[in-house]
Amino acid sequence: MLGNFSYVNATKLYFGDNSLQYLNEELPKYGKNVQLIYGGGSIKKNGIYDAVVEILKANGKNIIEDAGVMPNPTVEKLYEGVKIARENNVDLLLAVGGGSCCDYAKAVSVSIHCQEDPWQKYYIRFEEPDCEIVPVGCVLTMAGTGSEMNGGAVITNRQENLKIGHVFGAEVMPKFSILNPKFTFSLPKRQMVAGIYDIFSHICEQYFSGTDDNTSDYLAEALMKSVIHASLIAVENPEDYEARSNIMWSATWALNTLIAKGKSMDWMVHMLGQAVGAYTDATHGMTLSAVSLPYYRHIMPYGLPKFKRFAIEVWDVNPQGKSDQQIAEEGLDALKKWMQKLGLALTISELGVTKDMIAGIADATFILRGGYKVLNKEEIIQILHESM
Ligand code: NZQ
Ligand code: ZN
Repeated sequence: MLGNFSYVNATKLYFGDNSLQYLNEELPKYGKNVQLIYGGGSIKKNGIYDAVVEILKANGKNIIEDAGVMPNPTVEKLYEGVKIARENNVDLLLAVGGGSCCDYAKAVSVSIHCQEDPWQKYYIRFEEPDCEIVPVGCVLTMAGTGSEMNGGAVITNRQENLKIGHVFGAEVMPKFSILNPKFTFSLPKRQMVAGIYDIFSHICEQYFSGTDDNTSDYLAEALMKSVIHASLIAVENPEDYEARSNIMWSATWALNTLIAKGKSMDWMVHMLGQAVGAYTDATHGMTLSAVSLPYYRHIMPYGLPKFKRFAIEVWDVNPQGKSDQQIAEEGLDALKKWMQKLGLALTISELGVTKDMIAGIADATFILRGGYKVLNKEEIIQILHESM
């Protein structure tokens, strides 16, 4: 049965190959000082930086540079961004990049006027912001996280070997996000497929939970089919606009809170993947692909009807003459074949995990209770070993 919920999505989206021009409509709504947040320089190579700077200047903005946001942004970088924002009295945080830049911008936005240590407040104590929040805008260059239309902000603390996501409320979501599928053409293939698996995993995390009849599950199946179809075109031809736009749009819908409404969720693949990421700094989507199959094979007996449905509805497995278990297993086999076609990581050892790290990774894995089986520490260790 659908649970009770309220639903609002606070982000205005501009989608399409001319969407950047709408920055001209958004910028006048904010003050003069714009913190321009970007990563390691891809936007300088593909021309997006120049295009954004031109629009900022045409709108009379002071540009305050905040470069070098790394994949899996760190708590040290967060402190640096807060310092830049405070010194320059910024009015808007404009993230130009992937999920890392967008997440980081949100983390900075709730920390600028925060009197306490933001790591402790938001990531250890999971408190909500009680200070002024500086608005965030996003020009997205990588499809995957859904950060462009949600309140998620994942920060990594290397010293503590922790990678933690805080999902903030509507007031922290980007005020606007600009999605031009062509901006994703320059992604290296490895990043493109990691993003594609991230999308797929977000849908699975919300799908593999509950036994009720729920509209969200039908939406999830449709989204999964679209991602599978478009991904197979995009790996052959990365400049196929139709495929790249469907991937970008599916990424947004996979994690803009809609398909989570009224249902329970799992999220254990992400908990395992984040712990692997905390130890290895590996690409987020690859940490998910590397643990998914052992995890799903482990929980399948506890959620067999849903795994059977997944096989039939998403992977077109023919159920005739087969047991539920056989059908469900064929679904996971089909998932594996698709992952192999994309070239995803299927083991955590290829991401740099060694056997001596397993106990620490297991300790850093948050155990959530919404999936078909609440894992214990021994099961986590077993799944990590099976992922090697
Ligand atoms: O730094 P630059 O030089 O820009 O290069 C980036 C980076 O190396 C590159 N890239 C991005 N767009 C490009 C491009 N290269 C060429 N052309 C382009 N158009 O790609 C690399 C990865 O970028 P990143 O932003 O790190 O990737 P992603 O979008 O996957 O974001 C990952 C972060 O988001 C978090 C992850 O944990 C990770 O920290 N997540 C955020 C979520 C949310 N907000 O809800 C949910 C997710 O589950 C996830 O946890
Ligand atoms: Zn993810």
